[in-house]
Amino acid sequence: MRKVYVAGNWKMNLIDEIQPLKEFSKDIKNDIEVIVFPPFTHLQKYGEILKGSKVKVGAQNVFYEEKGAYTGEISYRFLQEFGCEYVILGHSERRNIFRESDELVSLKIKKILSSSIKPILCVGEREEERSLNKQKFVVENQLKISLGGIENNFKNIIIAYEPVWAIGTGKNASPYDAQEMHSFIREQLSSLFGKKISYDISILYGGSVNEENVKDLFREDDVDGVLVGGASLKCDKFIKIVEIVDKSLI
Ligand code: PGA
Repeated sequence: MRKVYVAGNWKMNLIDEIQPLKEFSKDIKNDIEVIVFPPFTHLQKYGEILKGSKVKVGAQNVFYEEKGAYTGEISYRFLQEFGCEYVILGHSERRNIFRESDELVSLKIKKILSSSIKPILCVGEREEERSLNKQKFVVENQLKISLGGIENNFKNIIIAYEPVWAIGTGKNASPYDAQEMHSFIREQLSSLFGKKISYDISILYGGSVNEENVKDLFREDDVDGVLVGGASLKCDKFIKIVEIVDKSLI
């Protein structure tokens, strides 16, 4: 069975409280990986607070070199020091605002796969691409370039389908559209890595996930969890999302 994830990407924000999530995590009945992604500067703090709990800590980005003259960048070795187990790569905000290319994302993924940290690769089309019915073409290219040439540790890869038009807009993909794309992504993973591996890779949905829509999205066969932005900034809302996913598995 594929692993189920509920991940909270705080972006360049902090949250008011985390203790209730830590407490709540003791009551999670199923094997769900709950991860929070604070800004780099707060990884240590949250790593310490959440140590020993079921909630894991991840980073929102990483560079592909281990050390050297790369002003402003962070290496996976530093992340490991904070007990970081996951890193988000290729988020659309990194692609659009910071001009990160698929080629750069590919270098990062390869480096991370040589470590113990697991990458969550974000892919997704823009609104104009969907309106031209090019969403599959766009996602296929992102996957091919970012994941091409990977030879091992496939089982550590996690994908997040995050249509750009759904991020922070309150306009989530319909469960039908999400499932259609997730199953397409799995087909692409199958042609890259083989059927067995593609079946084992978790594919999360992200883009305006909240406590109202998570149940229907998660019900879809190929939706193995969610990557939550805005709704992860309020501890009670995020807990509710985790709870709904947990209950859906019983
Ligand atoms: P959102 O963000 O939930 O606020 O739409 C999701 C994301 O960017 O990962």
